[in-house]
Amino acid sequence: MQAQHGQARLTQKKLSGPDTVHMVLDASWLNKAKPGQFVMLRVHNNTEPLLRRPISLCAVTPTGIELLFKIRGSGTELMSAWPVGHTVDIIGPLGNGFTPALTQTPACLVAGGIGIAPLICMARWLLSKRPACDVRMFLGTQTSTDIDAYIPFIPDGCTLQIATEDGSRGEHGFVTDMLAADSSSNQTAMIYGCGPMPMLKALADLTRRTGQTCQISLEAHMACGIGACLGCTVPTHTPTGSTNVRVCAEGPVFDAHQIFSPAKPV
Ligand SMILES: Cc1cc2nc3c(=O)[nH]c(=O)nc-3n(C[C@H](O)[C@H](O)[C@H](O)COP(=O)(O)OP(=O)(O)OC[C@H]3O[C@@H](n4cnc5c(N)ncnc54)[C@H](O)[C@@H]3O)c2cc1C
Ligand code: FES
Repeated sequence: MQAQHGQARLTQKKLSGPDTVHMVLDASWLNKAKPGQFVMLRVHNNTEPLLRRPISLCAVTPTGIELLFKIRGSGTELMSAWPVGHTVDIIGPLGNGFTPALTQTPACLVAGGIGIAPLICMARWLLSKRPACDVRMFLGTQTSTDIDAYIPFIPDGCTLQIATEDGSRGEHGFVTDMLAADSSSNQTAMIYGCGPMPMLKALADLTRRTGQTCQISLEAHMACGIGACLGCTVPTHTPTGSTNVRVCAEGPVFDAHQIFSPAKPV
């Protein structure tokens, strides 16, 4: 669907963990949005902060959308203080979104931290539209605190494997190592990833070795979110050469192997 400018009413808000916020927004005009797309939210009626903040869709429902975000700086701090009933000024849905496999291809959703938000949306979509599809979530965080914050939003029917860097929950180490060691994530699986750049590079390297298709959702600093300012461009690499793409317009979802060439450092 075409991006629109509209209003949404905040109907539910919950702090999940120390710095993670879940919001339900009444905005039926967004109910055709796709997993992997995002919205640009106006933070404040004043000029500070001036720029809208991009947040991925964590769920698309008949009545609107759900968001899951971390409080990082002034914008997300102000957003976390919105009261239920607040009217939110939104531009969306933006970006391309994930491309689902056409068949019953198993799906491995590989999340680093709050990168889980768009993957929760994808899991929900796959479970409702591809009921025979094996949907697996691989979640990696630094500590178990974030695991507890995210688990309530992972849909039933999606298997979950956890890795923490401090070993406080699940496997000890990186989520990409857990995926590599998982013999059931076979070659036919479609891999979807979202998280920090080093994790996405590791995922690109791994799936290049295994020959799996891998779509990743990138985060970039965004000013306009609609393709006008070129502030979010990243280089891509194809056999015929390099070109710059706008994360907000051509992305945020890309073929991992076009973003990370074999020799490219993070
Ligand atoms: C397409 C897209 C989808 C996103 N979806 C989500 C989501 O679902 N949930 C979520 O928690 N966050 C998401 N983000 C990141 C979110 O937009 C930023 O955390 C937010 O804009 C920070 O605003 P702030 O004013 O609180 O922080 P600022 O004061 O602007 O910055 C605080 C810190 O956050 C870092 N930061 C700011 N913007 C970004 C960014 N775009 N990417 C990475 N780091 C950033 C800064 O470098 C700084 O260290 C997404 C970003 C993009 C581009
Ligand atoms: S944020 Fe302006 S072009 Fe992407």
